[in-house]
Amino acid sequence: MIGIFDSGLGGLSVLAAIARTLPDADLIYLADTAHVPYGDKSDAFIQNRVLAIGRHLVARGCTLIVVACNTATAAAVAELRAALPTSSTARSERLAKLVELHAGTLQVDILPCPGWATKVETLNLNDPDFAESARLHLHASLEAGADQIVLGCTHYSFLAPVLAPIVAGRAELVDVADAVARQCERLAGDSAHGSGRLTLLATADPQRLQAALLALGLNALINKLCAPAQHTTA
Ligand code: DGL
Repeated sequence: MIGIFDSGLGGLSVLAAIARTLPDADLIYLADTAHVPYGDKSDAFIQNRVLAIGRHLVARGCTLIVVACNTATAAAVAELRAALPTSSTARSERLAKLVELHAGTLQVDILPCPGWATKVETLNLNDPDFAESARLHLHASLEAGADQIVLGCTHYSFLAPVLAPIVAGRAELVDVADAVARQCERLAGDSAHGSGRLTLLATADPQRLQAALLALGLNALINKLCAPAQHTTA
């Protein structure tokens, strides 16, 4: 069983990629919707949530855990790895270290995008003002010659239809969901083999999580659901 979690809806982009890559794996997706967004919470708060969710997923039988939230990964993946004998997935000090380690001579600019995750969380994806504000937001990076714009938050996958035309012809828009799914495939072992069922859990408003699958065009995931989304106290 593979457990995947995020503060809310963003990790569904990673879940969808994992379900495509490992169609027979049994998957649990946990949305910590009682505490979304993580972006405005302290590292200590996020660490507590990540450990509680990790333990909850292990108690439910998960042998592989994917932190489908970059904020949670940055704040707490080291603690989670130390506390639980499972594997997991990518800001802040950790991101700075990763950039230092891997970027070589490449220039990496970290561009916070306040409000973008909330736009997805509220399923406000067709806001006509967003495209213009996003264009202005990315302008300086594109003008400076950025050749890759990496979606550094799993929620932003669902903004790709708006962002792609803005960067088209100037830079490549990079979504990490498929790369995470490939790493998941490398680590999955026996967890890759199951009956291909999906369980949805949310710490608040599970019906909303389930309804979001349709709103976000994730119909293939709906077919894998074995029961309605459930509330969890993780
Ligand atoms: N989806 C989460 C990430 O990848 C962020 C959203 C939040 O701030 O909760 O960082």
